[in-house]
Amino acid sequence: MRAKYSIIFFVVVVTAISFYPGKRISAQQILPPLKEVFKKDFLIGTALNSMQIYEKDAGPVKLIPQQFNAVTAENVMKAAEIHPQWNVYQFEMADKLMDYAARYRMKVNGHTLVWHSQLPVFVQHMKDADSVMRFFVDHINTVVGRYKGRIYSWDVVNEALEEDGTLRRSIFLETLGEDYIVNAFRLAQKADPKAKLYYNDYNIEQPLKRAGVIALVKKIQAAGVRIDGIGIQGHWRYDAVPLQYIEESIRAFSSLGLETMITELDLSVLPGPWESNEADINKTARWNERMNPWPDALPDTVAQIQAKAYASLFILLLKYNQQVSRITFWGVNDGQSWLNDWPIKGRTNYPLLFDRIFLPKHAFYSVIETRRK
Ligand code: G3I
Repeated sequence: MRAKYSIIFFVVVVTAISFYPGKRISAQQILPPLKEVFKKDFLIGTALNSMQIYEKDAGPVKLIPQQFNAVTAENVMKAAEIHPQWNVYQFEMADKLMDYAARYRMKVNGHTLVWHSQLPVFVQHMKDADSVMRFFVDHINTVVGRYKGRIYSWDVVNEALEEDGTLRRSIFLETLGEDYIVNAFRLAQKADPKAKLYYNDYNIEQPLKRAGVIALVKKIQAAGVRIDGIGIQGHWRYDAVPLQYIEESIRAFSSLGLETMITELDLSVLPGPWESNEADINKTARWNERMNPWPDALPDTVAQIQAKAYASLFILLLKYNQQVSRITFWGVNDGQSWLNDWPIKGRTNYPLLFDRIFLPKHAFYSVIETRRK
């Protein structure tokens, strides 16, 4: 209810100001900044695409530095983009991101060094361990080395587990063996002793997959290699945020001496084609009208339920603000979200805090309100 009055107040103030003959200010400029509201609790981040890094997207150009103090490259630091051929690196976009973040005093999370998806074509078909090892070592040393001392953290390994907590049978496991994960962290630690080193994955709040994370953390720690935190991606549904499992995971990871982050937060409002909360980008589904119920606008009733879900999540994360170090939204606004095209292309989803014209949704105000309780 308080969120509703906040919105009414916001609309009244903006309307009044916009008619004021003096200096016009945009609706965005008077918003409470998420990064300030939660500055004593955790970093508030977003995923940036190329247009945003180059500040070519007028919509969010002011909103991003106003609201966020951490950024993750949505794509430009992935191997397929940054290392497209043997001994060929394309650092222009990643360099631009680093400059952008420095200009706005934002912490950069590098995403991601070792991932079975978005691999360069020259790696995808490798069969011999020597070639994969050469790519693996060269990639980590070159990319981490380039941003040594400037980047805040790395998603060293991304999505290495199956849903049952066993290791995903990726090219890395098949050719380099189980120790590839420990070796990835060892190489990253050596290449940049200051950067924080994370394991990042989806559904690891679920008990079975969480157990897999705990097992791989213990192997890394037993090898005397550093791992600083776990990124729970947070690709959930607005009507099924697994709060209890999230709380259990924060407590479990904290007991291993690790920080927890929600690294790719979005709350989809569209029907899913599967029962499970799948988030593997390589799995897709077929289009049908029922799967795209709101192509023109999000019903207010649904927006209100989503706002309550975001608020419940933030209330939980505030309870563990000593264990949770960052919350990153996977995109600035609904129009940017990967969920408009996954698992079904061409849908209209509404998973984030800002709408398609970068105005705050109910969820933005409900999140802000959690800190004022
Ligand atoms: O850059 C090319 C462009 O040149 C080409 O014209 C265009 C059409 O094919 O594709 C562009 O690359 C796309 C890229 O996004 C940039 O837009 C890739 O095809 C597309 O697969 C890629 O999707 C990204 C996906 O990861 C796969 O890398 C999504 O934007 C990104 O949100 C998503 O993020 C992942 C995290 O990295 C890991 N966790 C899951 C999360 C969601 O899948």
